[in-house]
Amino acid sequence: MKISFLQACALLQDKQVIAIPTETVYGLAAPLDSEEAIEKIFALKNRPAKNPLIIHVDSAEQVLDFAQELPPQFHELTEAFWPGPLTLVIPVRSGVISSRVTAGLPSAAFRMPAHHLTQQLLHHIGPLVAPSANLSGRPSPTTPEHVASDFGEDFPILDGGHCTQGMESTILYFIEDQWAIIRLGALPAEVFRPLLGYEPRIHQADSPQAPLCPGQLFRHYAPQAKLILSGDPLPGRPIVGFAERAYPAGSPVLYLGPSAEEAAYHLYDILRQIDARQFTEVWVDMNFPDHGLWLTIRERIKKAAGA
Ligand code: TXA
Ligand code: MG
Repeated sequence: MKISFLQACALLQDKQVIAIPTETVYGLAAPLDSEEAIEKIFALKNRPAKNPLIIHVDSAEQVLDFAQELPPQFHELTEAFWPGPLTLVIPVRSGVISSRVTAGLPSAAFRMPAHHLTQQLLHHIGPLVAPSANLSGRPSPTTPEHVASDFGEDFPILDGGHCTQGMESTILYFIEDQWAIIRLGALPAEVFRPLLGYEPRIHQADSPQAPLCPGQLFRHYAPQAKLILSGDPLPGRPIVGFAERAYPAGSPVLYLGPSAEEAAYHLYDILRQIDARQFTEVWVDMNFPDHGLWLTIRERIKKAAGA
């Protein structure tokens, strides 16, 4: 159910959870200071309690209310990339943020989203926690329709159109004297090089050691269908691929698009279409570059395939 900006404010003030637009994916929002609404997020999504939430702020200054200390180049990073698809994990003072939000970690994740409606909401309500607005395990939602398909037609959604990036924020964590990427996202590693003087290392998410990004351990983005990522396409079998390539005749093709930006924009909708069209086995053309935003796309497809 699409709601107005005023309704969105009223519902949040009344400790209700609503879906909000961001430039990356839709979020399921609750005020940071409402334990009751935050509980509802975990229940609605069926989200494991061990998976902490990102705090959305409307300025870098707001982070100072919570931070224990600011890692080096915090100001440069936020000046360059906020508002935008960058999340920074920052050590926080104990007791200032609910342990529901941090999952008991000594740090919290912060980001300033680049969507005018959500920026206005943040201005009116204060910081909002918001995980992606999908049931745990499902692909992240990039349209209001995706949110409604997971939470029902009556679920309140502030409609901000199709998310312009279509891919979650990149998460950076300061460890061993450098910023590292703990979740690949809409910003590829190389965009940080001019500012940091190095390309942040990409942390292997599924290492058996204590995870830096707990969410990376859970299955994600998955359609019901089996995704086949190797071998050759078979005639008649549905394909996720690229417009300029030739595939066996008779196969329905879902197009990712020629550029990485377009592939990111379309990927989650394609994963949802696979189920909507009741495909049971889909071949994915993984023949694309191994750098930049393509790395994020590859990682998401592998996760969706359960690989
Ligand atoms: O683009 C985005 O980041 C979207 C939009 C709605 O802002 N949000 C999003 O939230 O993707 P979610 O909950 O789906 O993913 C947040 C990720 C999880 O993998 C979680 O484990 C990680 O952020 N995270 C949150 N707090 C953390 C912390 N203190 N340390 C390490 N990882 C953290
Ligand atoms: Mg998510």
